[in-house]
Amino acid sequence: GEVSSIRGSLLEWYDVNCRDLPWRRKECDSDGGGEDDDHDEEERRAYGVWVSEVMLQQTRVQTVIEYYNRWMLKWPSVHHLASASLEASNVDASCSWVDCIKQLASCTLPSLVSQSSDYLDREEVNEMWAGLGYYRRARFLLEGAKMIVAGEEGFPRTVAQLRKVPGIGEYTAGAIASIAFKEVVPAVDGNVIRVLARLKAISTNPKDSTTIKNFWKLAGQLVDNSRPGDFNQSLMELGATVCTPLNPTCSLCSISSQCRAYAICEKDTSVAVTDY
Ligand code: ADE
Repeated sequence: GEVSSIRGSLLEWYDVNCRDLPWRRKECDSDGGGEDDDHDEEERRAYGVWVSEVMLQQTRVQTVIEYYNRWMLKWPSVHHLASASLEASNVDASCSWVDCIKQLASCTLPSLVSQSSDYLDREEVNEMWAGLGYYRRARFLLEGAKMIVAGEEGFPRTVAQLRKVPGIGEYTAGAIASIAFKEVVPAVDGNVIRVLARLKAISTNPKDSTTIKNFWKLAGQLVDNSRPGDFNQSLMELGATVCTPLNPTCSLCSISSQCRAYAICEKDTSVAVTDY
């Protein structure tokens, strides 16, 4: 039917065209591993997806890559992050770098070494975030990591569990659960709304809450049962690279033959896909 054809076309396109982004890379599991390794690997992946999705909420992919790589070197797991703090804690948070250096320089050599390495060890979350803006997102990541580690139940694996973590909304929960744990749930962001609005020629206001609910419902009906994470990312990726807000490249789109907006535009050139 129509739905399975859309799924197939999107996944086929995604397999060839997905960008090689650091949070998509799988560590290779060279010696086969066991169930425990698979479980750890899944949780590591979930943490990476979480960090990347939060960073991507208001920031472009190209900018996020650098921040993501630095963050993951500093805090490679949710356990590492949980032991970080928000601000540098052994110096007054309000002091300038000049004050910090003066303070350190007035120490004797052994304490200078220990103080400065302690300071560097506590390279803090806000500092790693500097330049990304919306610092509330960084605070939520830290609070969320502390909550997950304190909970002793491992990384939350379903949308219902993920929604209990501070800062994780329906979109981020859907992205993590589908990409890292294969839960068959949608993840609808602005890109996905635009793709679906064009696909189904829906022209009601995409900011209206009833319309948004309908997009979630539609995305939930479309999501592929065996590859939910790749399917969700194929919609995001199509929206980011082909089905762009202005001048979409319909000639490169794998689902243009199923796209109602495209069909309308072909018939009536006074309407543009851009209008959706
Ligand atoms: N934008 C936000 N999350 C994304 C993802 N996982 N893939 C592509 N674009 C995205």
